[in-house]
Amino acid sequence: MAERVIPLVDQRLTALRAMLPERSIPATGLLADTRGRPLRDLRISVTDRCNFRCSYCMPKEVFDKDYQYLPHASLLSFEEITRVARQFLAHGVHKIRLTGGEPLLRKNLEILVSQLAQLRTVDGTPPELTLTTNGSLLARKARALKEAGLQRVTVSLDGLDDAVFRRMNDVDFPVAEVLEGIAAAREAGLGPVKVNMVVKRGTNDHEILTMARHFRGSGIVLRFIEYMDVGATNGWRMDEVMPSAEVRARIASEFPLVPLDPAAPGETAQRWGYADGAGEVGFISSVTQAFCGDCNRARLSTEGKLYLCLFAANGYDLRALVRGGASDEELASAIGHIWQGRDDHYSELRGTLAADTGTGARRVEMSYIGG
Ligand code: GTP
Ligand code: 5AD
Ligand code: SF4
Ligand code: SF4
Repeated sequence: MAERVIPLVDQRLTALRAMLPERSIPATGLLADTRGRPLRDLRISVTDRCNFRCSYCMPKEVFDKDYQYLPHASLLSFEEITRVARQFLAHGVHKIRLTGGEPLLRKNLEILVSQLAQLRTVDGTPPELTLTTNGSLLARKARALKEAGLQRVTVSLDGLDDAVFRRMNDVDFPVAEVLEGIAAAREAGLGPVKVNMVVKRGTNDHEILTMARHFRGSGIVLRFIEYMDVGATNGWRMDEVMPSAEVRARIASEFPLVPLDPAAPGETAQRWGYADGAGEVGFISSVTQAFCGDCNRARLSTEGKLYLCLFAANGYDLRALVRGGASDEELASAIGHIWQGRDDHYSELRGTLAADTGTGARRVEMSYIGG
């Protein structure tokens, strides 16, 4: 069968208008979408650049030296991000995660962290403030981030074997430096540190047990992620997905596991504990066990578009409102209106016609809106 040619559409060039509703929607902290899902988690992408070229995320053939990253003027400034985040908190957000690309490539990121740390949730508490990073710059930055008010970090790490790791990041980056970054984060008090491993069958699944052995008993929470069909550039194939049930069985064959209760509603990971008390592992099973049912995550792209789903084709242009002189009330109303109209549940539809026609080849790249 001939392969289907997937046209690459640059989804960054299109945006949905963020409309001001006729009647204002005040932020009460009680917002719900069409499926009754609240807004709890805001993921902010601070750059579309990364110094790695993981093939499942930013394959070298696409993200080459001619690739046009966003110009600096189109990025939201720290002040703009903080202003938008304040309105999200007023609508009920409790957790903010900074992502990228690689967020630590954004200059002076600790200044943004300190601004966000000043904000308050509707309960009057500081938001949970966390960051997802590839760890390459963490050894240098962990302490400043902690001092600025960052609470914890999650580090992406797909294997411990240096050759496998260098191949997966595709820029020949040594694993030892990421491990130093993890150690520095722990020493700085950015814990509990989580480590995320995307498992690709045939590429790094032989590292599952090595990773489990390495991190059990360390206080670091290792999580296994099913390889997902995000974006349109990674050539995703179902036979490269290793279902979490299989990963878990491999671990349990050496270390018996017991199920743990979720720590928070709408969590991405299913938690399991080592029966001997040596800590926990998590499984993020978006492909085999969709968790859209209580998905409470909003995503703000680097240039200020609000995405309602990791698999959305398009985002709502909040930057146009911010730069067009909208008041805080108007901004809050627009966000409220957009969330109230949300129906996204891509992972539940994956593989069906509805998923294909809804987004198809136009899905946004993960490097652009972050995990
Ligand atoms: P914690 O609060 O530390 O548990 O973080 P988290 O699991 O909410 O966030 P993290 O960035 O560590 O997410 C881990 C991975 O889960 C991401 O890299 C994605 O692969 C996947 N993921 C996160 N959110 C979603 C989501 O809303 N939908 C889907 N399908 N996958 C997600
Ligand atoms: N499938 C699953 N997770 C992915 N990530 C990036 N691309 C994919 C994909 N195709 C996750 C990685 C990384 C985070 C930034 O995004 O876990 O840690
Ligand atoms: Fe960079 Fe993370 Fe994407 Fe790898 S997965 S290319 S480290 S953003
Ligand atoms: Fe949420 Fe979309 Fe992920 Fe489902 S696929 S959990 S709706 S981000």
